[in-house]
Amino acid sequence: MKALEGVRILDFTHVQSGPTCTQLLAYLGADVIKVERPGVGDITRGQLRDVPNVDSLYFTMLNGNKRSITIDSKHPKGKEILDRLIKHCDVLVENFAPGALDRMGLTWDHIHSLNPRMIVASVKGFGPGPYEDCKVYENVAQCAGGSASTTGFRDGPPLVTGAQIGDSGTGLHLALGIVAALYQRNRTGRGQQVLAAMQDGVLNLCRVKLRDQQRLKHGPLTEYSQHGQGIPFGEAVPRAGNDSGGGQPGWILKCKGWESDPDSYIYFITQAPVWEPICDVIGEPGWKTHPDYATPKARLPRLAQIFARIEEWTMSKTKFEVMNLCNAVDIPVGPILSMKEIAEDESLRRTGTIVEVDHPMRGKYLTVGNPIKLSDSPAEVTRAPLLGEHTEEILRNVLSYGDEEIAVIEASGAIGETRPKRRIEPADSAIRAAATKKFNGRTR
Ligand code: COA
Repeated sequence: MKALEGVRILDFTHVQSGPTCTQLLAYLGADVIKVERPGVGDITRGQLRDVPNVDSLYFTMLNGNKRSITIDSKHPKGKEILDRLIKHCDVLVENFAPGALDRMGLTWDHIHSLNPRMIVASVKGFGPGPYEDCKVYENVAQCAGGSASTTGFRDGPPLVTGAQIGDSGTGLHLALGIVAALYQRNRTGRGQQVLAAMQDGVLNLCRVKLRDQQRLKHGPLTEYSQHGQGIPFGEAVPRAGNDSGGGQPGWILKCKGWESDPDSYIYFITQAPVWEPICDVIGEPGWKTHPDYATPKARLPRLAQIFARIEEWTMSKTKFEVMNLCNAVDIPVGPILSMKEIAEDESLRRTGTIVEVDHPMRGKYLTVGNPIKLSDSPAEVTRAPLLGEHTEEILRNVLSYGDEEIAVIEASGAIGETRPKRRIEPADSAIRAAATKKFNGRTR
């Protein structure tokens, strides 16, 4: 049995933030029915395509373990099907632009009158306030949530992060809200609305920077290297490069091979309890007792010099050698792993964090499995659905429509005409090969 077995999700999500949420719920065992516009589907199916006419990795890596049904939500017959789906589902998840769900006629009152137990969960860019009507993408949220102003180097522009904290981060927040609402519903019998605003989600992940903003009133942020460089602080938390903010100063240092390998670096943390082993490892045993280096307070204004010395040592070793030597004496360090190294990492595959799945049109691809491991609810990762692949199956088996009713629905145009009449199995390698050949021919 899976943790969320028996929970059925009406998944009205698209792009990244919503789909990450529902994919996680699917990994946890929920039956996720993704509703897509006939003939079009989630816009990401066609975005950043690497193989022509094949659902993109953008889509397939965010929509595993789901079923796809195509319904025109503005068509009268489509509305009828949706009403029936609402009665058969536990949670509706959406991340449309503000007001779009209401414009479809799916207001909270309407949904709640059909199914008082329904939980309606939404991602929006902003919570109630001056920006509540704005459309928002990842980097807008990173900027509005305090991440960009605190990321980068002090003398450079604000930076966005590689981690999708606005989209995937908010999806994760929403998933937690949904699970909590399901738990509450067990006791009250009532559904409720759950909102995760992207600005709020990013700010939640940046809470240490709001901490530092308040600390600024009481003096300089001594663990920021600009303090040691004698550069005064302004009114707002500055960008701190790679300084770590937890009172355990750390920096990114070059390792052997950095001249040609852009990822030949290591994050090195001068954790106070292991200062003595650090001095031994880098060949500065005198620093253990020297008044300029022996205490964390004495070291703070000298971080640049200390890290320059440590870097002399790390540059004589590969990042993995540094990792092994330091971990042997409990010094916390982290090699900068490239995406190539991560994709090839056997241990991540063994734990199911990276999973290879097979897709009838694109062949094998890697995806990120469930990063949350439950001992009694193993996640089995399956491929993303083709557009409308499960339309008939859902109409028949979930909504109990009979042959005649399905014929009427098909004739109405509410579910479109493009859904596959049959599942395309891996045996259809000819389709895949032709697509790949065409693509290779184009790019050469
Ligand atoms: N049948 C018929 N119409 C459908 C449909 C279906 N199955 N599914 C979607 N639509 C319609 C919607 O009703 C809407 O129409 P309307 O504007 O006439 O009411 C339309 O498709 C487009 O929806 P919208 O959400 O406005 O898409 P967009 O591409 O213009 O905007 C975002 C994309 C992401 C900017 C916007 O959805 C948004 O701000 N979402 C909230 C924040 C968010 O999640 N951002 C992160 C994205 S990763």
